[in-house]
Amino acid sequence: MKVGIEDICFYTASYYLDLQVLAEVHQIDVEKFYAGIGQEQMSMAAPDEDIVTMAAAAALPVVEGQDKSAIRTLLFASESGIDQSKSAGVYVHRLLELDPACRVVELKQACYSATSAIQMACALVVRQPQQKVLVIASDIARYDLDSSGEPTQGCGAVAMLISADPKIMEVEPVSGLYTEDVMDFWRPNYRGTALVDGKYSTKVYLKSLKHAWLDYQQQGGHAFSEFNYFCYHQPFTRMAQKAHSHLLKQVGASLSTAEAEAQIADTLSYNRSIGNSYTASIYIGLTSLLENAEHDLSGQRVGFFSYGSGCVAELFSGVVQPGYQAHLHKDYHQTLLARRQSVDYATYRRLYDYPNPVDGGEHAIAAETTGPFRLAAISQHKRIYEKTAS
Ligand code: COA
Repeated sequence: MKVGIEDICFYTASYYLDLQVLAEVHQIDVEKFYAGIGQEQMSMAAPDEDIVTMAAAAALPVVEGQDKSAIRTLLFASESGIDQSKSAGVYVHRLLELDPACRVVELKQACYSATSAIQMACALVVRQPQQKVLVIASDIARYDLDSSGEPTQGCGAVAMLISADPKIMEVEPVSGLYTEDVMDFWRPNYRGTALVDGKYSTKVYLKSLKHAWLDYQQQGGHAFSEFNYFCYHQPFTRMAQKAHSHLLKQVGASLSTAEAEAQIADTLSYNRSIGNSYTASIYIGLTSLLENAEHDLSGQRVGFFSYGSGCVAELFSGVVQPGYQAHLHKDYHQTLLARRQSVDYATYRRLYDYPNPVDGGEHAIAAETTGPFRLAAISQHKRIYEKTAS
């Protein structure tokens, strides 16, 4: 029985900041961002957008036309959670009008947890193949102003339907795993922005890749030569290039620079414009590969390296299925990216500094999003979501 991704769709916020603007304010060469970290723009959430509205918007095209009673599990992966108790997935469950006979839970482990959700979803489907699992990863990446992480902010959500009818990609069973208790990036409950030891985090990322690959081989995984493409977690797109060079050295692959670049180039396009979307980023990378590759990817094997600071990493593989093109949401994604509104620095600061009320009062939020759902108010400590007219 094949199990894997039946459908995949992403969403990002209504605004973006071109990193040229940030470079001018910081008085540095923009090539540091464009070439050095491989980022051009970063999506910025409007005040009435958050991980719930983005998640529901990503999942809407996936659940439309589906028999909702088959979706008996919703796994919500995020590291920018909005509540210490209630799963953000429960709000999404209502906004999508899913069947009440559904289990919903939120998973957390930095940028990694969506991968864990996919693996858990595959296991559930193997157990009951008539059921489908909706996996949603949604995050808003926020770092301190003027920190090295500031240009690597961004936001986005990706929804994947996991089933025994994987029209997009079969997820193969072998995984390589690596966990180590390190402090490279974390966000205590009282902070709205992440704490990060940036350079150290890139080192731990590469170390985790090495160990996950070794474990993958020990578990009987495919040889490097059996992979056609690689999709890495992309906190910034240059990180994927660094990671791939690292892996090539580790396995002793003798590929030309062009051949090596071709194995990852198409996974980077969307994230260059969206920025870091933490849990969602690797799977937005997959969407980018599927929608931007010039060749038919049917039958091609993709290696995934998922990394979540702290840290947990997993390396696994998937095989793109024949006819996958008919099931992509390419127009939705490209329209979404094209209609985002560019903001100047003052607007960026308004969005960045938008208050997060904690007083339990009545706080209506003006309508700004161009998406299908919005955060309309925070009232008596409750987040009030509604559908928009779009
Ligand atoms: N033109 C082209 N490239 C330039 C440049 C210019 N004018 N100026 C600098 N660069 C290059 C540097 O040489 C460097 O390249 P290298 O990494 O190949 O050596 C790159 O741009 C980054 O410059 P650097 O000075 O190292 O950046 P930084 O100190 O601002 O930090 C990060 C970079 C990634 C550490 C920082 O963005 C960060 O903390 N990010 C958040 C944490 C993160 O994403 N971690 C990843 C693992 S999850």
